[in-house]
Amino acid sequence: MIPFMGSIIQNEQIADRIYRIVIENTTINEKNQKQMIPKPGQFYYIRVNDTTDPLLRRPISIQDFDGKRNHIKMLYRTEGIGTTQISQKKIGEKLDVLGPLGNGFTIEDAEENGSVLLLGGGIGIPPLYYLKKELVAKKVQVTTLLGYQTLSDSFLIDEFKALGETRVASMDGSIGIKGTVLQLISELEKWDTFYAVGPTGMLKAIQQKWGDTAINGYVSLEERMGCGVGACYGCIVKVDPSIDKKGYKKVCSDGPVFSFREVIL
Ligand SMILES: Cc1cc2nc3c(=O)[nH]c(=O)nc-3n(C[C@H](O)[C@H](O)[C@H](O)COP(=O)(O)OP(=O)(O)OC[C@H]3O[C@@H](n4cnc5c(N)ncnc54)[C@H](O)[C@@H]3O)c2cc1C
Ligand code: FES
Repeated sequence: MIPFMGSIIQNEQIADRIYRIVIENTTINEKNQKQMIPKPGQFYYIRVNDTTDPLLRRPISIQDFDGKRNHIKMLYRTEGIGTTQISQKKIGEKLDVLGPLGNGFTIEDAEENGSVLLLGGGIGIPPLYYLKKELVAKKVQVTTLLGYQTLSDSFLIDEFKALGETRVASMDGSIGIKGTVLQLISELEKWDTFYAVGPTGMLKAIQQKWGDTAINGYVSLEERMGCGVGACYGCIVKVDPSIDKKGYKKVCSDGPVFSFREVIL
C-alpha cells in the first residue's frame, strides 16, 4: 500500500451531484513509478478528514491520469458524509490518498484492430474513460455505451465522443435514447470483449444477456470497504465455486474487476 498527500489542483461540480477532482502526486519518481502510476480500473482510497468521523476511507476510481504532470483525475457523486466533505475541499489543500489499489482491467489480451464494447451506467462511467484512452492508443476498435438517469446528471459525453464511437441512453429520454445501455445494441452487433461498470442491476442484465455466449467480458464491482487492501474480508463478493473453490473473492484486492462469468451478483 502506498500512501501519499496529493495536492488538490481542481475540485468542481460538473453535473447534478457530480464533481471532478484533480490531484497532483509529487511523490512519483523513477524508482516507484511501476507501483505509483495507476492502471485503468484501479482506485484510490481517500481519507476524508483528519478526524475519525468518518472512520473509513472512501474508494474512488481513476478517471484519467496525465503522466506528464502526474495529475490524477477522479469523478465522484455526493452520496453521504464522505463524498460531501470531499466536495468541500479547496484548491491547494492536501488529500490523504492510498493507492493505486486493486486489479484494474485486463487489456493485454485486447488485440490491435480487435473490437471492444464499453458499457457504463451512472457513476460507473468515469473509469471507462481512462480504459478507452489506453485501448484507442493500442488501435483497438472501441464502441462506448453510456447510460444516465437524465440530462442534468450526464457528464463526459463529449470527451468519450472525442475518442471514438459513443452512444447515449437516459432513463427519461432527456439525452440520447430513452432506456438502458443494453437498448443501445442491435442483436446483429458482435464484439470480442466487453468491459462494464455500473449499478448491480445493469451488471446482472449483462450476465443474463451474454452468459450463454462465447464473448469475453469483465465487470467492475463496488462494495463497501474496510481496510481496502485485502486484510479484513469487509468487501467479499460471492463467486461461482466451480470457477473458484473458496466461493468468494475480495473486491478491494482480487478486484474490483472480475470476469463477468465468475461473480454471483
Ligand atoms: C472500487 C470502487 C470504486 C468506486 N469508484 C467511485 C467513483 O469513481 N466515483 C464515485 O462517486 N463513487 C465511487 N465509488 C463509490 C463510493 O466509494 C461511495 O459512493 C462512497 O464511499 C460513499 O461515501 P459517503 O461517505 O459519501 O456515503 P455514505 O454516507 O457512506 O453512504 C451514503 C449512502 O450511499 C450508500 N453507499 C455508499 N457507498 C456505497 C457502495 N460502495 N456501494 C453501495 N452503496 C453505497 C450507503 O449505503 C448510504 O445509503 C466506488 C466504490 C468502489 C468500491
Ligand atoms: S476492504 Fe478489507 S478485505 Fe477488502
